[in-house]
Amino acid sequence: MRTARFALDPAFTVGEVNPRLFGSFVEHLGRCVYTGIFEPGHPSADEAGLRTDVLDLVRELGVTTIRYPGGNFVSGYNWEDSVGPAEDRPRRLDLAWRSTETNRFGLSEYIAFLKKIGPQAEPMMAINLGTRGVAEALELQEYANHPSGTARSDLRVAHGDKDPFGIKLWCLGNEMDGPWQTGHKTAEEYGRLAAETARAMRQIEPDLELVACGSSGQSMPTFAEWEATVLAETYDLVDHISLHAYYEETDGDRDSFLASAVDTESFIENVVATCDHIGARLKSKKKINLSFDEWNVWYQSRPNPHPVEDWQEAPRILEDVYSVTDAVVFGSLLIALLRHADRVTVACLAQLVNVIAPIMTEPGGAAWRQTTFFPFAQASQYGRGQVLDVRVDSPTYATKKYGEADLLHATAVRAEDGSVTVFAVNRGQTEPLPLEVALNRLGLTSVVEHSALADADPDATNTVDDQERITPHPVEGTALQDGTLSAVLEPLSWNVIRLV
Ligand code: AHR
Repeated sequence: MRTARFALDPAFTVGEVNPRLFGSFVEHLGRCVYTGIFEPGHPSADEAGLRTDVLDLVRELGVTTIRYPGGNFVSGYNWEDSVGPAEDRPRRLDLAWRSTETNRFGLSEYIAFLKKIGPQAEPMMAINLGTRGVAEALELQEYANHPSGTARSDLRVAHGDKDPFGIKLWCLGNEMDGPWQTGHKTAEEYGRLAAETARAMRQIEPDLELVACGSSGQSMPTFAEWEATVLAETYDLVDHISLHAYYEETDGDRDSFLASAVDTESFIENVVATCDHIGARLKSKKKINLSFDEWNVWYQSRPNPHPVEDWQEAPRILEDVYSVTDAVVFGSLLIALLRHADRVTVACLAQLVNVIAPIMTEPGGAAWRQTTFFPFAQASQYGRGQVLDVRVDSPTYATKKYGEADLLHATAVRAEDGSVTVFAVNRGQTEPLPLEVALNRLGLTSVVEHSALADADPDATNTVDDQERITPHPVEGTALQDGTLSAVLEPLSWNVIRLV
């Protein structure tokens, strides 16, 4: 096998990683909230009903910003249902997921959950622009963020939350381009509503950060035109435009699946181009950044193995079990986000617990790490700092969906203390991939660790009965000599190489 190569130089950087790149997402969907993060009566539950076994894993995962309460759910959400005494809250039909929402967990519990995670956890609140509009957004904002002395802020105080929630980052709706969305709109309709909502919200707090809905996928028929139309209405009023992308292996085409990040990178670059085109048209100096606020592997085409009835509470839906292969693709998606850290300033792994999630739980039972937990935790721990510009010279392989794709997908991040971490994926299914990295003027002298996630069985998973079947393992033989790093990447592997 030909060696894959790249060079690193501190003069060539992409940009600083925003901690918000390691965000996640909690939606009222399936068992993400109920029996996921919140389960009164569970042996590990605290006084608020939050599962402390899950809180420990969330901290270990290194999650920052957490988007809430949806997702498709938000487009039918009445925020008023989710506040006040829990026993008085109404049960509602959740049209998005054909479930019953009890509202036992609501806005105050979400903020309490973030506080329990720690200071790194930041709220990212989505508002309902499906069945509701400007007035309800303002009421929610007043309830959440105004200190006191008005009807809605005093209501929050009366509900026991003396301090305002201080929510800075808001999503103006969710996937409004999708016909499945309750209250789906055309780009013109949504652009107007988003602009009016943003303008009004800024009348209360001018310094909010607002995310306009972009396309729910690059393959949407309205993609790019949607972004252009929405941004033409909202350019001066919002800070970010959203991107959503999910990938799965279809028809046994693993080679294409392994190259999914080719699509992620082109999606990002196409949205950046569209944002900058509108900026140029408006003769604006402002840059719109990207909020990749839903990304993951998701087996949408697989039948649900769990029996589920309409209007059930917390049904077992979207409980994908991730393999080693999925974790390698997932790692590659993280690499794609880091490679564009100059413009992707928010990203949310969808979702956090049980629903297409890195953390799984059993009601009344255990909480454990899926295979995808590890790339995220490692990237969050070691992927903070300046992203170095990585241009790979890699052997390629043929894929049906993306043509010739590089076997190597990689990025590198230089921390404040000068240490560098290389994140690399070998997309090849059968052959190890030799790697050489020229380390120019970085002052690096040794390899601290080379950790890999790979297995003789690429379909192996972690399950409730075998919770640690897959964990990262150390790799021997990785060396740094005369300014060159040499390593061998196992077939179908996610790699983290730390250098000082
Ligand atoms: O994350 C699952 C769903 O995927 C979200 O509710 C929706 O926004 C997207 O289609």
